[in-house]
Amino acid sequence: MGSCRFDIRPIDESTRPIVTEFIREHWYGTDMLIRGAVINMTTVDGFVLMEEGALTGLLTYAVDNGECEIVSLDSTVGKRGVGSALIDLIVNLARERKCECLRLMTTNDNLNAIGFYQKRGFDMAGINLWAMDKERAQNPSIPLIGMNGIPIHHEVEFRMNLS
Ligand SMILES: CC(C)(COP(=O)(O)OP(=O)(O)OC[C@H]1O[C@@H](n2cnc3c(N)ncnc32)[C@H](O)[C@@H]1OP(=O)(O)O)[C@@H](O)C(=O)NCCC(=O)NCCS
Repeated sequence: MGSCRFDIRPIDESTRPIVTEFIREHWYGTDMLIRGAVINMTTVDGFVLMEEGALTGLLTYAVDNGECEIVSLDSTVGKRGVGSALIDLIVNLARERKCECLRLMTTNDNLNAIGFYQKRGFDMAGINLWAMDKERAQNPSIPLIGMNGIPIHHEVEFRMNLS
C-alpha cells in the first residue's frame, strides 16, 4: 500500500477470523459502544498487518456523516513504526473520503496513547466523565484498574481536523 514499509492490507475474508479473535481478546468483546452507537467488531472495516502468520497491527474505523472514527488501534510489537503507519493510512483514507475530521476515544489510563496521538496531529476535543463506569455497568469485563495502575473512569476524545 503506497510507500508504507509494512504490508498493511484491508481486512478481508482471509484475515477476518484472526481479527475477530484478536478483538475478542483485547477489547472486552465484539460490540464496541461509541457515542451511544454499538459497532459490530466482527464486520467493522479496518487495516491489518500480518507478519509470519500473526497479527501485529490492526486499525478499525467507521466513516459516517463526513467524519472518520478510529474505533480501535493496536500494535502488538511496539516501537517499530506500525502504529504510525496505520495512522498515516487512515489519514489518507479519511482525506480520500472527503471527511472533515478524524476522531477517536481512548481511556484516561492510557498515557501512552494520549501521548502517541498528540504527537501525530490529534488534539484533545473533550472528556466524557465517568463514561467507562457507565459502560462497565453494561459490560463487567471492563477492568477497574487499567494501564499504568490507573483506575479507568473516563473517555478522552481526540480529533484531527482535515478540512
Ligand atoms: C499506541 C500504539 C498503537 C502505538 O503503536 P506503535 O506501533 O508502538 O507505534 P510506533 O512504533 O509508530 O510509535 C511508537 C514510538 O516508537 C518510536 N519508534 C518507531 N519506530 C522506532 C524504531 N525503529 N526504533 C525506535 N523507536 C521507534 C516512535 O517514534 C514512537 O515514539 P514517539 O511517540 O515518542 O514518537 C501501541 O502502543 C498499542 O497498541 N497500544 C495498546 C493499545 C492502545 O492503547 N491503542 C490506542 C488506544 S485506542
